[in-house]
Amino acid sequence: MAPRPLIAGNWKMHMTLVEGAKLVDALGMALAEATPKPACDIAVCPPFTLLAPLSEACQKYGFGLGGQDCHAEAKGAFTGDVAAGMLADIGCTHVIVGHSERRSLHEESNADVKAKAAAALAARLTAILCVGETESERDSGKAEEIVVAQLLASLPDGATAANMVVAYEPVWAIGTGRTPTVAQVAAMHKAIRAALDGKVGDPAGMRILYGGSVKPGNAKELLSVENVDGALVGGASLVSADFWAICSTC
Ligand code: G3P
Repeated sequence: MAPRPLIAGNWKMHMTLVEGAKLVDALGMALAEATPKPACDIAVCPPFTLLAPLSEACQKYGFGLGGQDCHAEAKGAFTGDVAAGMLADIGCTHVIVGHSERRSLHEESNADVKAKAAAALAARLTAILCVGETESERDSGKAEEIVVAQLLASLPDGATAANMVVAYEPVWAIGTGRTPTVAQVAAMHKAIRAALDGKVGDPAGMRILYGGSVKPGNAKELLSVENVDGALVGGASLVSADFWAICSTC
C-alpha cells in the first residue's frame, strides 16, 4: 500500500508572526470544515522565529511543524545556529535538511546534510531530506544517477519510513513555474525508491515528496504519479487558499 501522503509547506524567509498565525488558523478552519478530510498529513515549515509561537496552534489542528534547517551538533559555540533538539523542545515534529538553497547558498555538502539528518533523527524529528539536480545536470541526461548519488551520500544511518522523508526538488523547477514532465517525475521517484532498498527501514513505506513549482493547478497530476507520496510546497504554501487547494487534491 502506498504511504499516506504528506503535504508540507516551506515558507522559506517569509511571514511575520501575525501573517503566519493567520495562515495556520485559516488552514485549521478549512480542515475543520472539510468533508471529507483530505487523505494526507499536513505540515508547515515556518522560519525559526515563528516556530515556538505557532507550535500550539499546529498541535491543536494536527499539523506537523518543521524547522527549515538544523545544526549537526547538539549544542555548542555556533552563533546563529539552531540544534535539532531545540526544535523538538518547542514542539517541532519535522526539519528540512539539505534544501538546494542551503546546499548552494551555504555550500552545504552531502556530508553536512547527512550529519544534520542524523542530528534530526537523534532528536526524534522527522528529517525531510532534499535532493535534486541542476538544470545542466538534467541536460546531461544523467539526472537520476546524480540524484541517487546525492541521496545515498546524504542518507543518515538508521533512517526508516517513520523518521525520514525524501523530497525530490529539481533545482531548476524551484520558484520558476517550470516542472518536469510526469514521465521525468515518475522515472526519478522510481529510481529513488529503488535506491532506498536495503539502505533504509521499510523502503516501500518511505514517503518521497515532489517539490518545485507545485501549484493548485498541477498538484493533482503530480501527486497522482506513482511513487509520489506528497509535496514540498514553496510559494503556494504562503497563500492559505492555494496551500489548502493542494492539500485537498489528496
Ligand atoms: O522547498 C520547496 C521549494 O523549494 C519549492 O518552491 O516555490 O517552487 O514551490 P516553489
